[in-house]
Amino acid sequence: MSEFDLIIANGTVATAANFFAADIAVKDGKFVQIGQNLTGSKRRIDASGKFVLPGGIDSHVHISQPSGEGIVMADDFESGTLSALFGGNTTIMPFCLQEKGQSMREALTAYHALADGQCYTDVSFHLIISDPTASVLGQELPALVAGGYTSLKVFMTYEGLRLNDAEILKVLDVSRETGATVMVHCENEDAILFLIAKHELAGDVAPRAHASTRPIAVEREATHRALSLAEVVDVPIVIVHVSNGEAMDEIARARARGVKVVGETCPQYLVLTAKDLDGMDWEDAKMVCSPPPRDEAAQADCWQGIETGVFDLFSSDHCPFRYDDPQDKLNPKGSVNFRHIPNGIPGVETRLPILFSEGVMKGRIDLPRFVALTSTNHAKTYGLYPQKGSIAIGADADITIWDPEAKRTIRHAELHDGSDYSPYEGMYVTGWPVTTIVAGAVMVEDGILVGKKGQGKYRPATTRPVGIRGQA
Ligand code: URP
Ligand code: ZN
Ligand code: ZN
Ligand code: ZN
Repeated sequence: MSEFDLIIANGTVATAANFFAADIAVKDGKFVQIGQNLTGSKRRIDASGKFVLPGGIDSHVHISQPSGEGIVMADDFESGTLSALFGGNTTIMPFCLQEKGQSMREALTAYHALADGQCYTDVSFHLIISDPTASVLGQELPALVAGGYTSLKVFMTYEGLRLNDAEILKVLDVSRETGATVMVHCENEDAILFLIAKHELAGDVAPRAHASTRPIAVEREATHRALSLAEVVDVPIVIVHVSNGEAMDEIARARARGVKVVGETCPQYLVLTAKDLDGMDWEDAKMVCSPPPRDEAAQADCWQGIETGVFDLFSSDHCPFRYDDPQDKLNPKGSVNFRHIPNGIPGVETRLPILFSEGVMKGRIDLPRFVALTSTNHAKTYGLYPQKGSIAIGADADITIWDPEAKRTIRHAELHDGSDYSPYEGMYVTGWPVTTIVAGAVMVEDGILVGKKGQGKYRPATTRPVGIRGQA
């Protein structure tokens, strides 16, 4: 009788701390042994010449999220988690959005109904608070946090979604009381509206105006303010999708004052610039995201933040839309004003290859740092560790077998998400995930889907995350 369900043999195993040659054994969905020359399993996968990594965790993904003006996101849980899986991810964390007037419970019931039975990866939700009423803050959130919904996102921008400082302080206070983690989208909405009005008056409404109405100062100011509010409440905070060095400096300065802040950046800030929106062409609508990509200097700063530790998290901010239906009145190509372009770009499948190719292969970061930025730190920040994000005895057997020599040119036609383009089309990368295993179940093997929809499960987070910067 076989002792193990699965052995992955002859690979180089990496964690956020180190890497070493070892075999790993899996039973009942968990890692049960890490050692040399393991035998006695029902299945054996040879990982010679490959890296055996904890499965990618993408903690910033938008799926089936209602967006303004009735525009529908291009991914539901089926296509979104399939794309994530092929990109080497075993867990994703999408956002359950509370709409105005809705209770958080209502939002969650509806969002779970969309996810149930549809997922290829494991999933765990963040909550977006858009209507922080006394009952949401005082009654709902404490119960929800205790029940495993332990991360909350608030927005300082977007009409209908933004919270004012008084509201943000109240959410931060709930986080202090309950142990929840607050993620903040930092852009100054009043400054943006001021600049939009100026652009509209001048008739400057092509997609490039998206970038020029959201300049660095708008992000820097809001980042400083969010950090200051966290300081006032004395609570840890996550600053998401940081795009430039000036916002990074705010994070570093706050840390020096003792603020516990986790920083996140995304592929678009490493490899795109505002020039990608400046072709005087409605195709550029496809590159619209917030904050917008900046310039080469900001890219270099973000790389430095990846290397030196200003950033703890590297997430995709996958937020997919389609642009290919000319009949669709919501098609931004047919739109006359950049204000109506939905914000967000796809990228859940290309996140790991871009960081591996541009980061590890170019000598900017080592393999353990790659693992920390793409998996372990996400689990620690959001209460999924040590169950997720590590190759360790007793943890969920979430594995990405990585071919460091695979060469690929990113082509949307070969990706699996529901949008109709990739912002990274034509980018040449070295390194690609070949086999993805979710809680012991082989889902993608040598680039072929072998798992089934519904095998991915919902994973509640723990109330007090281990934290990477002392959230506990
Ligand atoms: O443009 C973006 N980032 N869209 C997604 C929503 C958000 O703010 O994260
Ligand atoms: Zn955001
Ligand atoms: Zn986002
Ligand atoms: Zn519109």
